[in-house]
Amino acid sequence: MSGKRTVTVTLDGSNKSTTLPLLSGTLGPDVFDIRKMYNDIGVFTFDPGYGITASCDSKITFIDGDEGVLLYRGYPIEQLAEKSTFLEVCYLLLNGDLPSPQEFRNFEAGVMRHNMLHEQIRQFYNGFRRDAHPMAVMCGVIGALSAFYHDSLDVNDPESRRISAFRLIAKVPTIAAWAYKYNIGQPFMYPKNGYSYAENFLYMFHAVPPEDYKMNPVLARAMDLIMILHADHEQNASTSTVRLAGSTGANPFACIAAGVASLWGPAHGGANEAVLKMLTEIGHVKNIPAFLEDVKDRNNHAKLMGFGHRVYKNYDPRAKIIQKACHDVLAELGIKDDPLLDLAMELEKIALNDKYFVDRKLYPNVDFYSGIILKAMGFPTSMFTALFAVSRTVGWVSQWKEMMEDPGQRIGRPRQIYTGAPQRDYVPIAQRA
Ligand code: SDX
Repeated sequence: MSGKRTVTVTLDGSNKSTTLPLLSGTLGPDVFDIRKMYNDIGVFTFDPGYGITASCDSKITFIDGDEGVLLYRGYPIEQLAEKSTFLEVCYLLLNGDLPSPQEFRNFEAGVMRHNMLHEQIRQFYNGFRRDAHPMAVMCGVIGALSAFYHDSLDVNDPESRRISAFRLIAKVPTIAAWAYKYNIGQPFMYPKNGYSYAENFLYMFHAVPPEDYKMNPVLARAMDLIMILHADHEQNASTSTVRLAGSTGANPFACIAAGVASLWGPAHGGANEAVLKMLTEIGHVKNIPAFLEDVKDRNNHAKLMGFGHRVYKNYDPRAKIIQKACHDVLAELGIKDDPLLDLAMELEKIALNDKYFVDRKLYPNVDFYSGIILKAMGFPTSMFTALFAVSRTVGWVSQWKEMMEDPGQRIGRPRQIYTGAPQRDYVPIAQRA
């Protein structure tokens, strides 16, 4: 970060003022560093939801919400989606640059060496009800990994951080696939290391012991693409959760379990599941106008799920890529027209011409189409957010690693504006009315 310019804040009605450095990053808005403001003029800042608050200095992902730009370590998401693979993107996010062929082979071998789960972890699944939501299972099992890897819980040891990163990235597909198998009462499938990361997930999810599994390269490519698009996204709610948990020195498995819990919410990663439920409830194009009137009715709490974003005030670039992939997957599956996709595209067209959405700069986000492609690929809606968690684990781990390697790292501890009761004395109950 650099900067010679400053911002001066003066408290009117007092002689107090402070001069704050204005810092510039590589891309994006400048920030003014407020760290000394309270000591100088005795006031806090107030930004509920952290809409314009930079919580950290990061080199991993850049988003330009107005222009609809998303870069992973400087590379445009459109180029990575077209030319890279999820495992290569994992290396990029974790290490900062694209790998050489040898670096990639070593990285892939490292991930493949850790994709099995300790056999006792299988017992955890038996403790859940058969209809347990996969996100409940992922929260529980990922958090429980910290009970199995005492050799890599020292967050201040680079080697412990390295092996924990491998273990988390490698095991989450197995954990998610087994959650589904447990739901449907089928045997768990173990990873096969001849497959790519995405292929392995499809295999563990769809294969059954009595039959040889036939990998569909188009679906495998679509899976890999979906994972790339969901891998990281700057300081979103779940990543900020992981950073805050990690800032206390909590072990990485506990931090990622916290990220899974945060992602589950329908305003965040749970939106893809909510979009499918919304489209199913709308049911037909003729019902779109009435639905949108409900959304616009202030007394209603209906949201157009899959629309809107805290940062993107333009089209989410990931939504465009997924919409195109939808058509490719449906064509591959011989689905001439998918009523849900047709409905979604009509809903998008109407909403993008509706003043309510245009005035609020509400565009489709990554979740608007992802559910449609996942449903076409045979995933139940209950698995959609779990798939998001599988893909986002590398982003969470990369952001956690960046924070732990920052020599200036300190525990996160926001303040508040207190609007409760002024100090008052206790009144014994016998004296109360
Ligand atoms: C993800 O942060 C990330 O990067 C997240 C993510 C990632 O990769 O990690 O991109 C993944 O979470 C994508 C978002 C998925 N969520 C949804 O699709 C749920 C529907 N969207 C909304 O809940 C909402 O748009 C949010 C939560 C995504 C953003 O909320 P903000 O930034 O707090 O926006 P806001 O609530 O201040 O909205 C501004 C206005 C409000 O209207 P007014 O009060 O000004 O009249 O827009 C309205 C909101 O009511 N609005 C919507 C709407 N989203 C916002 N109205 C109808 N439908 C919507 N979807």
